[in-house]
Amino acid sequence: MQIEVMVAMVVKTLKKMEVSLGFIHIPVQHRAELIGDSAVPFETKLNGVAAKVDKFGRLWSDYLKNRFTVNTQIIISKNNGGFQILANERKNYNFEPETKSPNAFVPLAAEVPPAADSGKKLKIGFVKTCDCDSRHISCITAKEWVKSQVAIQQFPITNDEIKEFYYEGRDIRDKDVHPAVFPIALPAHFIKTLTHRGELVLDPFVGIGSTLLAAQDLGRNAVGFDLKEEYIEISRKRLGQKKILDDGTQQIAILDDAHNIPAYLEENTVSLCITSPPYANMLAHRRLNKSIRGDLRKNSHYLKVQQYSNNPSDLGTMNHEGYSKAIQEIYSGILPLMRKRAHCIINVNDVWENNKRIPTHVYILGALQKAGFEFRNTFIWDKRNLVNRVGIFGWPSNFISLGATMEFILDFWKP
Ligand SMILES: C[S@@+](CC[C@H](N)C(=O)[O-])C[C@H]1O[C@@H](n2cnc3c(N)ncnc32)[C@H](O)[C@@H]1O
Repeated sequence: MQIEVMVAMVVKTLKKMEVSLGFIHIPVQHRAELIGDSAVPFETKLNGVAAKVDKFGRLWSDYLKNRFTVNTQIIISKNNGGFQILANERKNYNFEPETKSPNAFVPLAAEVPPAADSGKKLKIGFVKTCDCDSRHISCITAKEWVKSQVAIQQFPITNDEIKEFYYEGRDIRDKDVHPAVFPIALPAHFIKTLTHRGELVLDPFVGIGSTLLAAQDLGRNAVGFDLKEEYIEISRKRLGQKKILDDGTQQIAILDDAHNIPAYLEENTVSLCITSPPYANMLAHRRLNKSIRGDLRKNSHYLKVQQYSNNPSDLGTMNHEGYSKAIQEIYSGILPLMRKRAHCIINVNDVWENNKRIPTHVYILGALQKAGFEFRNTFIWDKRNLVNRVGIFGWPSNFISLGATMEFILDFWKP
């Protein structure tokens, strides 16, 4: 699929009416860049949410209503996925002092999708920089290889021999920040096992950036995408904190729909794609905490709906048919970006809903195969040590396994 990327980027300050009514008045001098010769009015997307450009050059979306405060400076960019806006928080990210003309402002690579900035694909390294044998899949030793072949892995570590998965101080386990985060050690394990230093890692559903942090620690270039601005901002802040390595590799969090990834990356450059996608609309219910012991059930998350967003492009809002289709579309776009025999790891769990088991891992398997990936391995993330407060449910007649005690880690490659 050839995707044409239209690019532009404009800085402007929001006025009171714009904030309260939910629009951006695109400055007249920038209409050609942002709107081109498209016939107005037209429907579009703004940060993945439905939007419309009217005949006066105003970009309207519910996304905008009271989202920013008056006088916030925003960066508007456009590519073939629609418009993206970000608050211009240059102070937090050590920008150069403001230039006289806001239009001459050039952000750091990690601030705005560079594809939208430069008119070209993202400039990011993907070639191995270590001196180990290039016939090897990664830099690991034979001894490490044997450990990583164990199909069931557990964390936090209980066994000194198996140190792959563990929670550390930087892991965020507060569900109010993000409801479904994996530990940094999980992507770190697969990045180490399946890539060399300097190579490129992709996370299509990056959340608050655990994969990017793991890549930064290990000297791998990495790009991650998420639909939610708040998560992308958290990813960037986490990446700006103390680094273990400072070796010139880049880790970039981009606010965009995973469907648009081919607009950013060159073909045959990605050495590992790793993610934990939404598990269809599993979070779109009031949380009942049924797997937690009765007296502990009514914790601060009880009866809360913890879905990521209401964005219709959010896979976490989709029913299982829509979900499988979206996964297939997204991974069909990713396949050409990957190098031959590059691995693609997906961490997923099945869902228990209305007294039925929803086999999400089977949907993922089917969708990835239809997208052209070849299935290679299943790993089980053994979570028994994390669910010591479990309750009994189903007893004595409805036999239900405790889904919270494990997750699938499915491994594919580009044949
Ligand atoms: C399970 S979370 C990933 C969490 C991540 N592994 C971490 O540790 O932070 C899935 C993420 O997918 C994002 N998402 C859902 N639909 C998306 C789409 N169409 N494109 C990009 N991101 C999407 C959600 O906003 C959510 O943050």
